[in-house]
Parts: sequence; C-alpha cells; structure tokens
Amino acid sequence: MARERSSRGTRQAPRYLLLPDEQGGIPGLNAFLASDAPVEADIGCGRGRFLLARAMRDPATLWLGVDRMRIRLEKCDRRLQEADIRNVRLIRADALEFLSWLPPGRLRAIYVLFPDPWPKRRHHDRRLVRPAFADAACRALEPNGLLHLATDDAPYFAWMRRLLEGDMRLEPAPAFQPQPGEETEFESLFLKQARPIHRASFQRRG
Ligand SMILES: C[S@@+](CC[C@H](N)C(=O)[O-])C[C@H]1O[C@@H](n2cnc3c(N)ncnc32)[C@H](O)[C@@H]1O
Repeated sequence: MARERSSRGTRQAPRYLLLPDEQGGIPGLNAFLASDAPVEADIGCGRGRFLLARAMRDPATLWLGVDRMRIRLEKCDRRLQEADIRNVRLIRADALEFLSWLPPGRLRAIYVLFPDPWPKRRHHDRRLVRPAFADAACRALEPNGLLHLATDDAPYFAWMRRLLEGDMRLEPAPAFQPQPGEETEFESLFLKQARPIHRASFQRRG
C-alpha cells in the first residue's frame, strides 16, 4: 500500500481525496458519478464525522465531502480507509467551484452543517450561504432535491432562512434531523455546551 512520510511519521496516502487540476476540473469525479446512483454532498464537511456515518448507513448512495482544508479531508480519508467505506469521495475545493463542476441536477441532497458564521457585518460576504450559493445549489440539485442547513448561530440562521424562504426555486421542507451517531464534530461541541441548534431544510421545486 502506498505510504508517505510526514513530520509526524509514516502515514497512509490519501485514497479517496480528489484534487482540482490546472484546467479547473476534478479528475476522477465524473467516473465516480457515472452510474445512476443518487448523490449527496456534505459541503464544509471538515473531518467528515457526519459523512462517514451517513455513507456507512446508506451504501447505495454516492457521497461527496467538500472542504477547502486539505488537512481535514486527509483525516477523513484515513477514517474512510480504516472503516473500508468506498462510496465516498473527498474534494478539496471552494463550495461554489465544486457546485459549478457538477452536471446540473445531479445532487439529491446538499448538507451545510455548522458553516462558519462570520458574525461581523463587514464579513458577511464571506458566509457560505449567500445568494451566489443559492444559485449554485439550485442548479446542482435535482427537482425535489433537498438543501439541509444546521447552525448554532441564531443570526446566521435567520439570515439563511430569509434568503432561502424568499427564493421562488425552493420551498420549505421538514427539517432534517440526524440519527444518533451522525452528529458532526462541531455539533457535538455545541451540544456539550448546551447551545441551541437551529435546523432548516428546503426542497427544490420540481
Ligand atoms: C465550522 S466548520 C464545520 C465542519 C463540520 N461541518 C462540522 O460541523 O463539524 C466549517 C467548515 O467549512 C469549511 N469551509 C468554509 N468555507 C468553505 C467554502 N467556501 N468551501 C468549502 N469549504 C468551506 C471549513 O474549512 C470548515 O472545515
């Protein structure tokens, strides 16, 4: 098995991590998506605790974990290898770029779980969920596909709801509830701190 050296010792080389090439595509992504299997994406997946739990529970679905931080994806990759989970690919990319690379209507669901809230007004344009994200998500979702959101940050939650409830391409759906064991890393932290968790889901109109 391929191995690489790092300052912290010998580590398994990533097996499920896909990186953008210089032409702006993602080698390996189209091949992974070539079948008719449904596809769901966890955007800002971090180290992938939710992604792994879902992928293990639902092996008939293809799962994509997307994050800008390679080190987090590499941790997730090691966990995938240890658990021998093969229906997942990890993509190091910005969320909007990733969504633009997908064939339109390919995703059955998008999860945005505990995105960075960027509370200062002057940083609001850094928020993941913003009008350009709504456009990219609506393009990538299949008709009746679902966009699931969760956050501990009440002002960001209100902002996301305002944006998405006013979007005629979407309609509110029952909020997604994770099963026991599917809590994300940040969610576990917030639950320990007894912070309220806000959830909302939206369905792309058919
Ligand atoms: C607060 S963490 C939450 C991680 C995980 N969802 C959880 O709940 O444990 C937010 C994650 O989103 C990633 N992220 C932030 N903006 C992003 C973007 N525009 N595209 C892709 N990933 C992004 C960050 O690198 C980080 O891993």
